[in-house]
Amino acid sequence: MKELIDVEVIGDRSCLPSSAEHEKLLSAVQAGESVYSDSLGWLDPDEWGGEDWLDKSIELAERARAIADTFVVIGIGGSNNSVRALLKAVGERCGMNIVYAGNTLSAYEYKKTAESLEGHDFVIDCIAKNFETLEPGLAFRIFRDLLARRYGKEGAAERIFCTGTVGSHFEKLARDNGYTFIPFPGDIGGRYTALSPVHLVPMAAGGADIRSFSQGAHDMARLLRTAGAADNPAFIYAVARNHFFSKGYRIEILSSFEPRFRWFYKWWEQLFAESEGKCDKGLFPVGLEFSEELHSLGQFIQDGSPVVFETFIDVKSAGASVPIPADGVDDKFSYLDGMTVESVNRVSQEATMKAHSSRCPCLRISIEDINEYTIGALMYFFEFSCYLSGSIMGINPFNQPGVEKYKMEMFSNLGK
Ligand code: PA5
Repeated sequence: MKELIDVEVIGDRSCLPSSAEHEKLLSAVQAGESVYSDSLGWLDPDEWGGEDWLDKSIELAERARAIADTFVVIGIGGSNNSVRALLKAVGERCGMNIVYAGNTLSAYEYKKTAESLEGHDFVIDCIAKNFETLEPGLAFRIFRDLLARRYGKEGAAERIFCTGTVGSHFEKLARDNGYTFIPFPGDIGGRYTALSPVHLVPMAAGGADIRSFSQGAHDMARLLRTAGAADNPAFIYAVARNHFFSKGYRIEILSSFEPRFRWFYKWWEQLFAESEGKCDKGLFPVGLEFSEELHSLGQFIQDGSPVVFETFIDVKSAGASVPIPADGVDDKFSYLDGMTVESVNRVSQEATMKAHSSRCPCLRISIEDINEYTIGALMYFFEFSCYLSGSIMGINPFNQPGVEKYKMEMFSNLGK
């Protein structure tokens, strides 16, 4: 097996302080602290992402594929980000068309989504741990009504999956109406549920190889839960970002030269923002897509307020080879003759790392390729790092009290 992941400080790594206290925290996180026992169902990937769950998820996905060509994922935040991050990163894999809903209150988007379903047979999966969140609750109403009008009540019922908490009102609603019920892990908060049936079912429906995804997470878990501080990539990452925070940096940019990470960034932003942004602390996470944003936010990184540090995801394999044609036209780009697009992208990446690291602290996270296996590994890596980093920062990485504030205001205005 090639190197699973490598994390390094670009430039002088000796700047990173690693204290005995940090190392004690690493051991605590590797074992899982009892104080967080109701949130650590993801720490051992077998708990919700082992063989049994993989089999069940594939079976449910096949059931959906037998009756539909489109799978509507209704969910918000941790309830839809992982599936979209994976499927958009690995690309089409002969699965169903996946449509995302329940993450907006925009009437325009509702109309567009409903229109996009015309002429398609579809199923819906309403994912809601706490079935009180307005956005998925509203979308569930709209799309189950659409199903009922199209297929009748019974026909609709076989096309409705409900992913929710065991013993909840949502489970009762599902069972009373003949919908398929999928358990949402009681011991995992949404943003840590990538490797669980919450996402495995739609991932499999979308054609992803979820066994490989799970294997990546398992291999990463084995590494991170056994490696000591000096060889533990999550430890290096967590200590580094806390060190930069202590030096006054307030924004972490996650960037890469592969636009396939566009939705992965959303997943990462949600994981870290909701986990760490509390008690007046935290790094504001922003994902940037290069080359595009070198021509916009790149300016800020190089010359703007010195509050930013940057973590590059360096993907070793380009995923394709595209020779640059030399057609003899005098376009002043003859220095590209004989090169490939991927070699130019590599040069651009190295040049950017050099330029940005001359201005701000930079980290490099290297992976071999972008596929189910590496994305599974990377998601586990960031989840583990987030737990550890939050612990170093002295916050609870598993709650999100701030999110409740807007909900309370909105519910009171809606007369709930
Ligand atoms: O990570 C989290 O816990 C949140 O982002 C939730 O996933 C999100 O708020 C959706 O919650 P629910 O599934 O309860 O509607």
